[in-house]
Amino acid sequence: MITLALRLLTPADGPAILRIYSGASVTFLERRAMTAREAEEYVATVRQRTGAVSVAQYVFGVEVAGDLVGVVKLGRRPGGQGQVSYVLREDCWGRGYATQAVQQLIAFAFGIAGLDSLGAKIHPDNVASGRVLEKAGFTPFGMRGHMITYRLAASAD
Ligand SMILES: CC(C)(COP(=O)(O)OP(=O)(O)OC[C@H]1O[C@@H](n2cnc3c(N)ncnc32)[C@H](O)[C@@H]1OP(=O)(O)O)[C@@H](O)C(=O)NCCC(=O)NCCS
Repeated sequence: MITLALRLLTPADGPAILRIYSGASVTFLERRAMTAREAEEYVATVRQRTGAVSVAQYVFGVEVAGDLVGVVKLGRRPGGQGQVSYVLREDCWGRGYATQAVQQLIAFAFGIAGLDSLGAKIHPDNVASGRVLEKAGFTPFGMRGHMITYRLAASAD
């Protein structure tokens, strides 16, 4: 079994982030592919935010066998709510990595981050992303604009 781990981004991660935010991976993100400069700025901004005393958004790199293959994010909303999102490099899709990474992010969210419930939203055509959420325990909740929203509450035990 391949070990997948979430980790903080380091200053050397710019080129890996550039490869993640490219090609088909940006189709449903309503953004264009990053430039090399934007990838470097992204890493710098994320590192600055993660060092803040009160973290509004956690961004973890998804590392598999030493390769940074994706990014998962946890945004903090008022009232103990969190918002989950993720993106994987296109050549790493279909291996269960996103599901594993989201499961680890959920454990972090309900454990260390102390959140009570999580939300996520997907484009209706993004079937793979919907599967990831459902396999991780989320259930469809409603619509926000043209996006389908999902929810997951921390278990009572
Ligand atoms: C969505 C994304 C993160 C999925 O990553 P992944 O590592 O391939 O996901 P997993 O392998 O853990 O699971 C994918 C599931 O979707 C299914 N799937 C993949 N493509 C599918 C398709 N076109 N139609 C139906 N199901 C599909 C897979 O079979 C799998 O389900 P299964 O385990 O029940 O067979 C990845 O495609 C990605 O980065 N996309 C671009 C960014 C994005 O859309 N992010 C989400 C924004 S909400």
